[in-house]
Amino acid sequence: MKNKCIIVGVTGGIAAYKICSLVSSLKKKGYEVHVLMTKEAEAFVTPLTFQTLSGQRVITDMFSVDFVPDVHHISLAAKADLFVIAPATANVIAKIAHGIADDMLTTTFLAAECTKLIVPAMNTHMLENPVTQDNIAICRKYGMRIQEAAEGYLACGDTGKGRLPEPDEILDRIEELLEEDKFLSGKKVVISAGPTQEAIDPVRYITNHSSGKMGYELAKAARNYGADVTLVSGKTSLDPVAGVHMIPVVSAADMAEAVIREAADADAVIMSAAVADYTPSETADHKLKKSDDDMYISLKRTTDILASLGKTKPEGQVIIGFAMETEDLIANASGKLVKKNCDYIAANSIAEKGAGFAGDTNHVILLSRDGKYDIGMRSKEETAAEILKHCLKGRS
Ligand code: CTP
Repeated sequence: MKNKCIIVGVTGGIAAYKICSLVSSLKKKGYEVHVLMTKEAEAFVTPLTFQTLSGQRVITDMFSVDFVPDVHHISLAAKADLFVIAPATANVIAKIAHGIADDMLTTTFLAAECTKLIVPAMNTHMLENPVTQDNIAICRKYGMRIQEAAEGYLACGDTGKGRLPEPDEILDRIEELLEEDKFLSGKKVVISAGPTQEAIDPVRYITNHSSGKMGYELAKAARNYGADVTLVSGKTSLDPVAGVHMIPVVSAADMAEAVIREAADADAVIMSAAVADYTPSETADHKLKKSDDDMYISLKRTTDILASLGKTKPEGQVIIGFAMETEDLIANASGKLVKKNCDYIAANSIAEKGAGFAGDTNHVILLSRDGKYDIGMRSKEETAAEILKHCLKGRS
């Protein structure tokens, strides 16, 4: 830990003064700390303060005449293990969300490939503005980690969300991220997500309520743990996951073809998609016209992708299925574990409030032949991390 290099980007918010204590704590713990400041941040704290606390030259100006090549932004970016921006103003969040690099801080940030932590701090209304929220979502999409602003009294006189978390909390988050294990490094993980669409005619199709959120969170988490991730996704309204190989599909047949092909050399396969069990026996070439009679559509079975994977599972591959049930959760999910020959089934009941399709939370119970692990009601992001750690960590 002690040799790790951390870049602290400070932008122009009143909370900049709290970062003095963060820099001091990081330094005391033995980290190499470099502070980059925006011009606006200098209005709140002097570079000399950070220079004294970090023991390193503080860089603010991209084209200064006494520029030291050794701390050139590219080499600093390459050296960093973690880049934290705190406080992150709405302005800098907007810039980094869109790749704008017009000063030393944003230029170095764009060049850095290390773990990135953004700690927003601003007036509540600025934070809640949909533009800022969209920009934060874009940052998340590109794999940056966001530490939520705290609630309380704000310097502008308002009370609400927008306070910078206490320096100790930021320190804890930094250390947690530095310790984040890349246990999936060098592993290929194939994940399916979202619904399938089964065409009746060129206009209509049969589908289900899957939002794809759980699978997308699994893809993000697997990427963060270092995996080479392939995400086979049915149609969703979600943004593609950055840093992941996306394969868009429409029908259960398309999904079967893509997943089975990609799974051949995968170390782990996670079937979180809601795959149609039946598809119309025939898809009409033209729009079906109505008549006064009732209508019946004949359906035929689709391939059970998970069961096929279970039959041809290569040595050492881990297969994780999902089971969404409305009743007899454990009994039904255990049946699927055995019948489909998976290593784990992530069981969730849509009868439970806060679990299931559209929301941001889920309650998953992981079943294996060795027993069960109840993850509890968590955000889908946390649930995804728990599933990966429980099922894949420690495997060679
Ligand atoms: N699954 C699959 N191929 C299908 C249907 C389901 O791979 N044609 C996978 C799902 O992605 C999930 C698991 O099988 O990982 C269980 O899906 P679920 O819909 O809960 O169960 P089914 O096997 O379809 O059984 P039922 O609908 O009768 O509950």
